[in-house]
Amino acid sequence: MPVLGLGTWTMTDELAAQVIPVAAQLGYRMVDTAAFYQNERGVGQGIRRSGLTREEFFITSKVNGRDHGLDRAIRGCEQTLARLGTDYLDLYLIHWPMPMRDLYVDTWRACIRLVEEGYVKSIGVSNFLPRHLDRIIGETGLIPAVNQIQLHPRIVQWESRAYAEKHGIVVQSWSPLGQGGTLLAEPVVQAVAGRYSKSTAQVVLRWHLEQGLVPIPKSSDRGRLAANLDVFDFHLADDEIKEISGLNGTEQPMNPETFEQD
Ligand SMILES: NC(=O)c1ccc[n+]([C@@H]2O[C@H](COP(=O)([O-])OP(=O)(O)OC[C@H]3O[C@@H](n4cnc5c(N)ncnc54)[C@H](OP(=O)(O)O)[C@@H]3O)[C@@H](O)[C@H]2O)c1
Repeated sequence: MPVLGLGTWTMTDELAAQVIPVAAQLGYRMVDTAAFYQNERGVGQGIRRSGLTREEFFITSKVNGRDHGLDRAIRGCEQTLARLGTDYLDLYLIHWPMPMRDLYVDTWRACIRLVEEGYVKSIGVSNFLPRHLDRIIGETGLIPAVNQIQLHPRIVQWESRAYAEKHGIVVQSWSPLGQGGTLLAEPVVQAVAGRYSKSTAQVVLRWHLEQGLVPIPKSSDRGRLAANLDVFDFHLADDEIKEISGLNGTEQPMNPETFEQD
C-alpha cells in the first residue's frame, strides 16, 4: 500500500473524473472512496482516463451503513465494483462500526468471504475503537489490515494507535489536514514550516509520515495536490513531532459509539 493517498470525500462523480487523472500524473497511486461518497463512478472513470492500468492503482472503498449485515455487505461490494468498473478492490473497509445496530461482526464475516472469493485483496475497518476491534478479532480470529480513523495533530488517537501497533494494524489518517482549517494556521505548525521552507500542510503531512501513519489528504486543486505529495525531501525532529502533538485535545473527535451512517 502506498504511504500516502488521495481522499475524495465531497468530490462529485464529475470532479473525481477530472481530478484523478491530474493526481495520477503527479504521482498519486492510492485513491480513497466509499459507497457513501456517491462518487465511485467518477473515481472509476478518472482511473480509466489516467491512462494507467488498473494494477498501478490501489483503490480503497468502504461498506455503507445501510449495507451492514452478511448478505447486504456482499451485495454492497458487488455494487461498488460495478460502479467503479473494476473486478477487485485493493482494500475494503467497514466505514463505521455503528454498534447500536450490532451488525459489524456479520459485516466483518462478509468482508472475509469477499477476500476468499477474490473480490477484495485485503480488508480493514474505519472508525473502530479498540473494543470493536477486540470483538471482531475475538469472534473471527482475523485481524484487520487497516484501521482508518480521524487523526491529525489536534486528535492524535494515542489509544487506537497503541492498539494498532500491538496487533500489527496499519493506521490511515482521515482528515489528516484537519480539513484544511485553522489547524494549518497554528503557530507551532507555522514555526516548524518556516524552519524547513515548507507549507504548514506539508509539515502536518510529514508529522503523519514520520509516525508511520498513512495520510489520505483530499484536494481538487492541482497546486495543492502537487504540494501534498512533495513531502519526501525533509524530516521532522522528534521534538518537533512532540511539539506539534501538543495540540492534541484542542478538537473533539467524532464518536464511533453513536455515529449512525445511512
Ligand atoms: N473513514 C471515514 O469515516 C472518513 C471520514 C472523512 C474523510 N475520510 C477520507 O479522508 C479523506 C481526507 O479527509 P478530508 O477530506 O475530510 O480532509 P483533509 O484531507 O484533511 O482536508 C481536505 C480539505 O483541505 C483542503 N486542502 C487540501 N490540501 C491543502 C493544502 N495543501 N493547503 C491548504 N488546504 C488544503 C482541501 O481543499 P481543496 O480541495 O480546495 O484543496 C479540502 O477542503 C477524505 O477525502 C476521505 O477520502 C474518511
